[in-house]
Amino acid sequence: MKIIKVKDYEQLSNTAAKFIIERVKNKPNIVLGLATGGTPEGTYKNVIQDHQQNGTSYEQVVTFNLDEYIGLPGSDKNSYRYYMNEHLFNHINVKKENTHIPNGEASNVKQECEDYEGRIQQIGGIDLQILGIGENGHIGFNEPGTSFNSRTHVIGLTEETRQANARYFPSIEHVPAHAITMGIGTIMEAKEIILLASGEKKREAMKKLINGEVTEDFPASILQKHQNVTIIADEASLSDVQLSGDGKLDH
Ligand code: F6R
Repeated sequence: MKIIKVKDYEQLSNTAAKFIIERVKNKPNIVLGLATGGTPEGTYKNVIQDHQQNGTSYEQVVTFNLDEYIGLPGSDKNSYRYYMNEHLFNHINVKKENTHIPNGEASNVKQECEDYEGRIQQIGGIDLQILGIGENGHIGFNEPGTSFNSRTHVIGLTEETRQANARYFPSIEHVPAHAITMGIGTIMEAKEIILLASGEKKREAMKKLINGEVTEDFPASILQKHQNVTIIADEASLSDVQLSGDGKLDH
């Protein structure tokens, strides 16, 4: 793993956006894996700004989001489809038909999971996957205990995750109890991964991610086994992590 330690959220957003933009310029038809949540919002803002100012094109880019709540239509402002349209897709020249998010309203969710996985395989896999991290170590919505071999599947959200996401809903009862998420096996097949983390709340998670053992009890720990992972994280989130000079780790 390579670690880029930045000062604060603003620098995190800048650095991550530059990283993505560079990859898009190098491969205009890149397949991006995208995350939602609070952490990448600033990154997406910078991507939009660059698109508007410098014209970086997303015309051939294909995207696959990590996850979606079950039961929310894309028109619901808490759905991840709505989030992505608002925070990114509506403001860059990506073709909407090239943006993929699991359908949380599918009548046959199991089939939807298989189809989603199939679409990712069919296009040749994800070139660059962007990840956030849950305080409990989840990546996508793969909660602790999820198999490292899992593919796109339905997951019951933990109380902790529902609490963490309740800030976007009128109350915790409104937070869906289930979601569709790419599996850990799916995520690990991405050719390159960047994981973004910001703030004190992620301190413990970052320590376990970087210095902890690889265990299904802490899903993100599997990233230690991936060949091409860059962590971009701010000082607050890394304050419990010992880093040697260049920020490169052996695993
Ligand atoms: C979002 C996702 C989640 C979040 C994680 C952190 O698509 O898959 O794993 O990345 O819950 O969320 P924030 O950034 O809100 O702290």
